[in-house]
Amino acid sequence: MTTPLSVAVIGAGMAGRSHANGWRMATTMFDVEDLPPVRLAAVADANGPLADDAAKRYGYDKAVTSWEEIVDDPDIHVVSIVVGNDLHRPIAEALVKAGKHVLCEKPLAGTLEDGKAMADLEQDASVVTGVGFTYRRNPAMAAVSQHVTAGDLGPVTLFQGRYNCDYACDPGGALAWRYTGPKGSGALADIGAHLIDLAEFVNGPIASVAGGQLTISIAQRPKPLGFVVGHGAAPVSDETGEVTNEDTAAWTVRFANGSSGTFAVSRTAFGMPNGLAFDVYGLQGRASVDWHRPAEYLYDDALAPRSPAASAGSSPARTCPTSPAATRCRRPATVAGTPRCSPTSVAPSSTRSAVSRARSRPTRPSPTPTA
Ligand SMILES: NC(=O)c1ccc[n+]([C@@H]2O[C@H](COP(=O)([O-])OP(=O)(O)OC[C@H]3O[C@@H](n4cnc5c(N)ncnc54)[C@H](O)[C@@H]3O)[C@@H](O)[C@H]2O)c1
Repeated sequence: MTTPLSVAVIGAGMAGRSHANGWRMATTMFDVEDLPPVRLAAVADANGPLADDAAKRYGYDKAVTSWEEIVDDPDIHVVSIVVGNDLHRPIAEALVKAGKHVLCEKPLAGTLEDGKAMADLEQDASVVTGVGFTYRRNPAMAAVSQHVTAGDLGPVTLFQGRYNCDYACDPGGALAWRYTGPKGSGALADIGAHLIDLAEFVNGPIASVAGGQLTISIAQRPKPLGFVVGHGAAPVSDETGEVTNEDTAAWTVRFANGSSGTFAVSRTAFGMPNGLAFDVYGLQGRASVDWHRPAEYLYDDALAPRSPAASAGSSPARTCPTSPAATRCRRPATVAGTPRCSPTSVAPSSTRSAVSRARSRPTRPSPTPTA
């Protein structure tokens, strides 16, 4: 019988639980003949009850409170690192040295020095390492990347990206590890890391950066009385502490292919549970993705026949569902400006009404876990 691959997850908080669940689902998702059985070996978290709960909930053999126990366990082969950012490097180095494969959460590191050292880790080791840039796996994001790579948009002229969240809008929210360095690293690395990775996935390497603005909107937050999980509410003290990293960041770039880019990310953007979105424009086409509608992307190119509406100056772009057939289709003839990409495509007017409905809702906590 094939030897099982034993996996462990270090960190049982918001994202740690996604990893715990991901490993549990792995053998059901991938149709790979030689994929060995996965043994759910251990969950580690400094918060013992949280580790116990996650291990029980996701079916792992044991819960431990120290990550070193995972390093020292010869029966564990693959490990997810899902703790605060300053622990990524020491834990990754110890695991790779112990011969374990590592999937480390983003941002890989809080400093260039740590990032470079971690990128070098794999060089002399016989293990596989990776970073949790999950959005690349989204079919809509991948389809837009394919369009750009295939040249469907012609030479790219502009990439405009944003990742706006509202998880830090409440000034009464606890001063969790995210809000102070070196454990946390602000909106730029926390959510911006995803957007930067996507920009390079779609439009190639960034060659230079200029015009950065980093701002803090809520400078003091109440200290937590105990553990805080993710962006969740937690009991807080009357004492406050200083927020030492940015709530919002904006900057511009030049890509190696010569195109321009603008980026904005914020964790204090009201009404945006998980607002990752980008538009990419070329001389012969354009494409857009908005994570608030994750199963589709918008695509328009110069090969599409112009409809009466288009010739009047308004271009009726398609909204494509991300089925394999749809991702490669050209826009067929449109009837009175209504996209007919597939029976399940959604007209832009539906997008607008969804946005209007969202705007009319009262303030609420983000329902979707974000970075
Ligand atoms: N890829 C994504 O979409 C995504 C989403 C969210 C978070 N993340 C990343 O995941 C990491 C964790 O974020 P989170 O939101 O889950 O944080 P979290 O605060 O919810 O969880 C972190 C956990 O680490 C535990 N911990 C702290 N010190 C420890 C130690 N020395 N040993 C063992 N456990 C320890 C804490 O008790 C806590 O339960 C961060 O790097 C974050 O950037 C990625």
